[in-house]
Formats: sequence, structure tokens, C-alpha cells
Amino acid sequence: MTNEVCFRTLHLDKPSSLDTYISIGGYQVWKKILAEKTSQMDIIEEIKISNLRGRGGAGFPTGLKWSFMHPPGGEVQPSMQRYIVCNSDEGEPGTCKDRDILRYNPHQLIEGMAIAGYAIGASIGYNYIRGEFWEPYEQFEQALSEAYEAGLLGKNIQNSGIDFDLYTHLGAGAYICGEETALLESIEGKKGQPRFKPPFPASYGLYGRPTTINNTETLASVPVILEKGGQWFLEQGKPNNGGTKLFSVSGHVNKPGNYEVPMGIPFADLLEMAGGVKDGKKLKAVIPGGSSTPVIPGEIMMDLSMDYDSLASKAAGSMLGAGSVIVMHEDTCMVKTLARLSHFYYDESCGQCTPCREGTGWLSRIVHRIEDGQGKNEDLDLLNSIASKIEGRTICALGAAAAMPVASFIKHYRDEFQYHIDHKKCMVSMK
Ligand SMILES: Cc1cc2nc3c(=O)[nH]c(=O)nc-3n(C[C@H](O)[C@H](O)[C@H](O)COP(=O)(O)O)c2cc1C
Repeated sequence: MTNEVCFRTLHLDKPSSLDTYISIGGYQVWKKILAEKTSQMDIIEEIKISNLRGRGGAGFPTGLKWSFMHPPGGEVQPSMQRYIVCNSDEGEPGTCKDRDILRYNPHQLIEGMAIAGYAIGASIGYNYIRGEFWEPYEQFEQALSEAYEAGLLGKNIQNSGIDFDLYTHLGAGAYICGEETALLESIEGKKGQPRFKPPFPASYGLYGRPTTINNTETLASVPVILEKGGQWFLEQGKPNNGGTKLFSVSGHVNKPGNYEVPMGIPFADLLEMAGGVKDGKKLKAVIPGGSSTPVIPGEIMMDLSMDYDSLASKAAGSMLGAGSVIVMHEDTCMVKTLARLSHFYYDESCGQCTPCREGTGWLSRIVHRIEDGQGKNEDLDLLNSIASKIEGRTICALGAAAAMPVASFIKHYRDEFQYHIDHKKCMVSMK
């Protein structure tokens, strides 16, 4: 039985209500901080002990990120307004976990944001919610007004002298606005395009002020870490990979859905929880962390565990990403799958950097022509060459997100691509 962290309220009546959250001890950590003015560095230390790593994709250690707001030798721009920003954009294909936190446990996210804001010295927070998430947005707004009415947010909260105001901001459905600096531009009312870094948001963030940006799942984990202790959280997972993790399992499984499990669970166990491969078919491939993470052949995947280190190992050559597990069975055409993915990144490139703007178009067109039986013999090397010229040459990681799947699909399924080129048809659908 998993000790649930982000889905603590899921099985309760009215999971998103304030009363339900209070009934499981919600807001106790925040109230304690308000009463005792806990040291900011003690909070950050506890988060470091927990080994919580960013759940938005890159897995950056959260405690370390927060400590950038308190650099040794003096505060970053001490007199300036600071911000905590929650990234609820959730645009990566395969990912559907953050919307369920907004829907079913919004108060834990609000408490996590208030605590994070306090720890980094921010009295204002923004939750940036993907434009299409109308119902989760309404649930979050409802929770926000309940929290204000209960006197848990606002100015001089519970006579503590501490202020924390929280606003929601709806995006407009652009994947690029999940990239943290494009997200900041979007909140500022500008076109959502990533900024050059450095300067990083810790020194120049929202409205040019020191800002920390974290994913929804990351921030929603915070109250439980402080309630039960960093060590407890760490022990739910494994060293360097603390806690539980929400995995969104989709594709060819019998029970697709979000599963909260200990970090480091064997993939085979997660697959079993998701009801196994559909129609009793053979597992062919898995994209383990969202569509931008490299694909892993099924036989390799069955020996891996679901954590940052295992999926980044030499054998796996992929990433945990946002924990969005896309399962494909033996009847999947890998050319068609890559064509679909490549089109997504082409469509979503913001167009700011030439290698990404032009390269994603080339990748998409070449994979499509292979799928359509128009492929040329040199196309596979050409695809690899284009992918290698995008990665590392763009302002943000969208370019790499487009390039990595291409390189990995060709590496593992070259024969299938070659068959499409040679025979102008698919070897899979012939079965
Ligand atoms: C193109 C692109 C899209 C992204 N989309 C998201 C997203 O939807 N949600 C998210 O949390 N992080 C997303 N990220 C990662 C964010 O830039 C950032 O690293 C993350 O929000 C930091 O939070 P964390 O440290 O808690 O993971 C995206 C990055 C890129 C390059």
C-alpha cells in the first residue's frame, strides 16, 4: 500500500473541499509556520533532506532551487518583491497528473505554494494553469476563495505579520508556455517565448524580480514533507530519488490512469497496476516520461525501475521526465508514432530559434514522407543529422524535446523505418 502524498484526498468524500483537507490535518504546517515564524533555512533544509526533485521534467533538486533565493553572502535584491510561480501548464503529451491535483487536492497545492513562498521570501504567488483546463481551473479557484474566507491567505494572515496572496493565470493552450521563462512572459501579458538564461529566474524572474518556479506536483508534495519529515519522504522512494511519484500511464494498457506509487517501483509492477498490456499482446516499446523522452524497447523496459537514475542509466538512455508512461504493444507502427510526435513539436515550436523553427519542420516532413512511402535511402542519416543540429543550439529545451525522440526511434527501430523506405509500406500492419 502506497503512502499517498499528492492523492491523499482522492478516496475521500468531496476530496477538493476545505473541510476534507482540514480533516486530514491540512493547513497545520502553514498554521505552525504562521505561529512560530519557522526559519526559512530550516524549511529549505528539510526539503533538501527529502530529496524531492522537480516533477516538471528535469528533476532538479527542489531544496537547492529554493536556496538560490538565499545565496551565501547576502540576499538576492533584498528590497524587491519576490514571487513563487506554480507551473500547471501540463502540455507534454502523455501527462495528465497535475490537472488531477488541481481537481482533487487543490488545498494541498495552495498550502504548498504558501509554504514555498514563505521559504523563499515571496509574498505573492501565481498558479499558471493550462488554458484548456477549465474544470480544474474552477476547482482551484473555488479552493482559493475557501482559503481566503478561512483567513489562510491574504495580508497579515492570522495576525502573524506574514502576507501571502495567490492568483491564478489561465494560459491559452501553447505548449511552449510550460517552459518556465515563456510562462513568465505569458503572465506578464507578452507573447510566450523563452528568455535567454542567464539571468535565471532566481535573480531576474517575473516582472524582473527574484522568482522560483516549480511544478504542481512538486509544490503539492511540500506540506506532507514538512508534516512527516524529509527523511520519511525520502524513505518512500530510494536514495537520490525521494518520495512517491504520480505516473500517468496511457496507451496500450487495460487500465490507463494516474498512479501514485513509491519512486523506484519496478516498471513491471506499474504495468501490472495499469492492468497489463491490452488484448494480451506483447509489449513493444515504452516512452517513460512524456513524449519528449527517448523511447525504450519493451524487453529493456521490463528490467528497469521508475526513477530518475534508472531511466537515465546507460541501458535505458532515457529520462523519468514528468512520469508520463506511454505504452505501445506489438501492433504499433513506430514510423507512424514518430510522425505524430514530430508533428506536435513542429506545431508547437515558438519559432524564436532557427534550428528549432526550421529543424522541427524538416523532421516532421521527412518522417511523414517515410510513412507515406516516399522515403529516400539517405533519409535516416539525414534525420539523425538534423536532430543533432537542433539539440543544444536553442534557447530552451523544446528543440531537444523534438530531437530526442527522433534519434531514439531510429536507434531502436531502424529496420522498421528502412522497411517503409524499401517497400513503401509498413511491416507491422502486415502481421
Ligand atoms: C517546452 C517545454 C515545456 C515545458 N512544460 C512544462 C509543463 O507543462 N509543466 C512543468 O511543470 N514544467 C514544464 N517544463 C519545465 C519547466 O521549464 C520547469 O523546469 C519546471 O516547471 C520547474 O519545476 P520543477 O523544478 O518543480 O520541476 C517545460 C519545459 C520545456 C522546455
